[in-house]
Amino acid sequence: MQLVLVLLLAASLIPTYLAQPCCSIPCQNRGACAGNGFDNYECDCTRTGYYGRNCTTPEFITQLKPLKPAPNTAHYILTHSKGVWNVINLIPFVRQVIMVYVLTGRSPLIDSPPTYNVEYGYKSWEAYSNLSYYTRILPPVARDCPTPIGVVGKIALPDSKTAVEKLLRKRFIPDPQGTNIMFAFFAQHFTHQFFKSDMKKGPAFTVAKGHGVDLSHIYGDKLERQHKLRLFKDGKLKYQMVNGEMYPPTVKEVGAEMHYPPHVPEAHRFAVGHEAFGLVPGLMMYATIWLREHNRVCDILQQEHPEWDDELSFQTSRLILIGETIKIVIEDYVQHLSGYHFKLKFDPELLFNSRFQYQNRIVEFNTLYHWHPLLPDTFLIGEEVYSYGQFVFNNSSAPEHGIKRLVSSFTNQIAGRVAGGRNIPLALGPVATEVIDYSRDMRYQSLNVYRKRFELRPYSSFEDLTGEPEIAAELEPLYADADIVELYPALLVEKPRPTAPFGETMVELGAPYSLKGLMGNLICSPLYWKPSTFGGVVGFSILNTASLESLICNNVKGCPIASFEVPDFTSYPAINVSDIEDINPTVLLKEKTSEL
Ligand code: HEM
Ligand SMILES: *[C@@H]1O[C@H](CO)[C@@H](O)[C@H](O)[C@H]1NC(C)=O
Ligand SMILES: *[C@@H]1O[C@H](CO)[C@@H](O)[C@H](O)[C@H]1NC(C)=O
Ligand SMILES: *[C@@H]1O[C@H](CO)[C@@H](O)[C@H](O)[C@H]1NC(C)=O
Ligand SMILES: *[C@@H]1O[C@H](CO)[C@@H](O)[C@H](O)[C@H]1NC(C)=O
Ligand SMILES: *[C@@H]1O[C@H](CO)[C@@H](O)[C@H](O)[C@H]1NC(C)=O
Repeated sequence: MQLVLVLLLAASLIPTYLAQPCCSIPCQNRGACAGNGFDNYECDCTRTGYYGRNCTTPEFITQLKPLKPAPNTAHYILTHSKGVWNVINLIPFVRQVIMVYVLTGRSPLIDSPPTYNVEYGYKSWEAYSNLSYYTRILPPVARDCPTPIGVVGKIALPDSKTAVEKLLRKRFIPDPQGTNIMFAFFAQHFTHQFFKSDMKKGPAFTVAKGHGVDLSHIYGDKLERQHKLRLFKDGKLKYQMVNGEMYPPTVKEVGAEMHYPPHVPEAHRFAVGHEAFGLVPGLMMYATIWLREHNRVCDILQQEHPEWDDELSFQTSRLILIGETIKIVIEDYVQHLSGYHFKLKFDPELLFNSRFQYQNRIVEFNTLYHWHPLLPDTFLIGEEVYSYGQFVFNNSSAPEHGIKRLVSSFTNQIAGRVAGGRNIPLALGPVATEVIDYSRDMRYQSLNVYRKRFELRPYSSFEDLTGEPEIAAELEPLYADADIVELYPALLVEKPRPTAPFGETMVELGAPYSLKGLMGNLICSPLYWKPSTFGGVVGFSILNTASLESLICNNVKGCPIASFEVPDFTSYPAINVSDIEDINPTVLLKEKTSEL
């Protein structure tokens, strides 16, 4: 009798709890979960290196594989013993071997070709072929799962506004690695060519169908727009001269629409590839610099090849600029970000001997790249202090100050630390709330599921995640269980690595997406990576010698110092974390800005 009762009870529980047997994410080690009837599942462990019901038993071959060092250990090694690395960096062969290791260790974590998207948690031709979707590394949580994040946790997630107030509320914390806002604006400018959400369709869709470094933010994402921006002479882009310097043309002149509010006068409505780059002077600064670079490269090509027509010149210049961008991103930008003493190298040939797919589609990467904590409370240009209200859409700043002063000012102003919590400028709180809301619309899986997917240990408690008690205590009432903390807020409250802007998850998730996106570019493939693609030896060497410094020096009068780190950063007094609330970013500015 009792047995029958128990069985009946059990039977009545199964349909609700196992409504969707894959909700509990039973398959490990990248095994694919498929429902089998209403109350059972099967894990497909093919080529995962594991077997068993949940793909948890390693195959013999898997056991033989050398253990990878833990990410924090590898990070420690690469960011310490500067003297040893200085020697290694001088030995080309050793440097190459380590660079191959950096690349091949990361890129297999990204599925290529891509698999899922917001609608498809299983493989389908639609998900593969419809380029309007951002693709997903992890399938969305199925709609009929018992809780928003699968089976664990409460039925409802915390109010996103409350979460932002409690966890991300602002008190400016300068980045201990010396990152400046020249870096922040580069990040924003560079990434917005491929993070271009199509809000008409929703946050899971993109208008940037190139899904990578295609420089659509310089040339426009449609051919029609590109043609409006082109001069059709010598391959160049249209421009105007202001105070003897080259600037983008006006919207009125070229007819390429831009988003400007009504108060901006016609003369200051510049037209560039990305419609939103009039928003922030930092973006217009980079847009202007790249416009000058394009036209400069055209001049060089025209000299080399007086016989070339406009189209050939334009297309070749674009490929060279794509190469320059990737070179600068790896050797200056990622180099700074990583904090590595090992000198990174952009060399596509390093991958020619490994299995590597030259394609990429943008994924969850967008969510984790919302690095708004980098931004300060106020912006300093020359002697002037700008609030957000005065800085954003300012109708006069770029040509009024000139590019040189913008470069110097942004180079000297320190950026905020991204991880560690409570560092979003007040003005950008609403953006953080939106990111959380969108992640829920898109049914993201939780932080710990992402950590496991990227071969990281799931966090066992809130304090394990934050590395401190105060924010951990704020997380507790919001989430109750460390297993359901959401990806985005977690990335911003995670314990930062010592003297670094980010914690482990941001780097270990972000780096594979980033390297795959850069090295998976068309121009890095064996067929394209040769001088003739870039107009010969001269063009090839333009891209192979590119750096942030030369980009600025070649295009900005007076060749101002430009870097992704505040100059002489180590000479700042050590920052006492307990005093941070009282630090005004102005104090951290070098005297230099007043000389401008
Ligand atoms: C003054 C500077 C900035 C302002 C005012 C600003 C503001 C915004 C706003 C209003 C959005 C749209 C929010 C939404 O629709 O959900 C956004 C999106 C975004 N921001 Fe920022 N932001 C700034 C700087 C930055 C920086 C430095 C980064 C660094 C990488 C960044 C990364 C992003 C990303 C990745 C997106 C998503 C873009 C997309 O999906 O289309 N932003 N930002
Ligand atoms: C597989 O995973 C399920 C759900 O997570 C668990 O209940 C079960 O014990 C696991 N089975 C094996 C053989 O590991
Ligand atoms: C891609 O999918 C979206 C959403 O279903 C749809 O609106 C759009 O038309 C599709 N695009 C193509 C090219 O089929
Ligand atoms: C634009 O910047 C100038 C300083 O260059 C400042 O005086 C002005 O108030 C700003 N304009 C707006 C609309 O905020
Ligand atoms: C910029 O906008 C303000 C109003 O927002 C206006 O008073 C000012 O004249 C404009 N500046 C220029 C240079 O047009
Ligand atoms: C940092 O601040 C704490 C608390 O205010 C104080 O005890 C400590 O001495 C300070 N450290 C330094 C190096 O100033």
